[in-house]
Amino acid sequence: VEKQRLKIAVIGTGYLGATHAACMAELGFDVLGLDLDQAKVDSLSAGRLPFYEPGLEEVLARNLATGRLHFTTDYAEAAAFADVHFICVGTPQQATSNAADLRYVDSAVESLAPYLTRPTVVIGKSTVPVGTAARITAQLHATAPAGQGVEVGWSPEFLREGFGVEDTLNPNRIVLGTDSARVEEVMREVSASQLAQGIPFLVTDLQTAELVKVSANAFLATKISFINAMAEVCEASGADVIKLAESLSYDDRIGGKFLGPGLGFGGGCLPKDIRAFMARADELGVEPALSFLREVDAINQRRRARTIDIARGLIGGSFAGRTVGVLGAAFKPNSDDIRDSPALDVATTISSLGAHVTVYDPEALENARREHPHLNFAHTMLEAVRDAEVVLLLTEWTEFRDADPEELAKVVAETRIVDGRNALNPEHWREHGWTYRALGRP
Ligand code: UGA
Repeated sequence: VEKQRLKIAVIGTGYLGATHAACMAELGFDVLGLDLDQAKVDSLSAGRLPFYEPGLEEVLARNLATGRLHFTTDYAEAAAFADVHFICVGTPQQATSNAADLRYVDSAVESLAPYLTRPTVVIGKSTVPVGTAARITAQLHATAPAGQGVEVGWSPEFLREGFGVEDTLNPNRIVLGTDSARVEEVMREVSASQLAQGIPFLVTDLQTAELVKVSANAFLATKISFINAMAEVCEASGADVIKLAESLSYDDRIGGKFLGPGLGFGGGCLPKDIRAFMARADELGVEPALSFLREVDAINQRRRARTIDIARGLIGGSFAGRTVGVLGAAFKPNSDDIRDSPALDVATTISSLGAHVTVYDPEALENARREHPHLNFAHTMLEAVRDAEVVLLLTEWTEFRDADPEELAKVVAETRIVDGRNALNPEHWREHGWTYRALGRP
């Protein structure tokens, strides 16, 4: 008799959960995705992604068609169905502090627990402050009818938006925090195809697994702010940070990835994760250990101010009544995510200083318009820069990298551009008569 395949529930169907659910079905498991948002469940059930993620809609459609993938709002149904529950809800920054807001994690655990009547495995994937998994374990043991039969693991997710499918199916490592042999066995079964490819599988205690995630994001943020700090020094000394970064990158102890200078990091992860990590270190009495992350955050914020200063300088010292074209709204290309978007932060600040700002983005316009109704939005790049006295490139979509300086020159009022992402070739734009300025370069 063939062994029964594990049945998987995925709680939370945002970027992480929807990707995880669809990819687990792609691997052949029967999957039930759960979200309290009925509209999201309806949309996913109909094969429509409520957000932009390249390649994911195809995986979703394929697995809805095979009947391996379903969605629900009902915790009782999820508990009756699944052998293993993955918690994939968001952990945003609290409105009034730097700490992580755990209300979605807590409510998922509270809602699920009463229905866990038989031995079950619960594996968290959400990014949480160290110590959360142990607390949840105790809570489940105390409140689930199955008691100690509910076993907990924490397996942080390292996927990047824009590469979610690839990163889920081919992660560079799988980390599992647990002290339960059953949880490890289940996770090895879920990860069988990755293990067969030789992808490293690391088993740790719960605390270490929680820390792996936030320390990885802290390191990545630090690397970006390091090169942006060098950009500040380059600006003051006339050096070129692009040549500097390239020259550093050949030392394979340093490497070239995440060494891209520019407007800096944003999004739903890096900024809030370093702040929540600092808040947690403070609670643990080791605040000085992470005080450098305050500097990482400050360097990152200064790049936004610097971009605004360069633009202001180009148009004669004041934004009042000036026309500005902004290219980019998403926090990075290949995403429609505008959470803590550096591009929109710059655009809204310039608008509040009295400029007439028009924004274009290939995918994030709808989200940007909903959050920032006072800005103007255009449906093409040319429309956004029409009559602009300065153009700001703030998210490095391929469409902008490939922009033709001659074509843009025909519609702008003044051929001035601030390349906030070091995405363009300065010589090429200057040859076509543009005043070209970038971060960290002469
Ligand atoms: C990040 C991590 O890269 C993932 O490994 C992690 O799983 C994820 O957070 C998460 O915690 O869920 P993501 O937020 O999707 O992924 O975006 P990144 O590709 O890391 O980019 C973050 C920001 O850094 C973007 O605003 C990007 O423009 C900026 N960046 C990136 C730079 O300014 N310079 C660089 O060289 C690289």
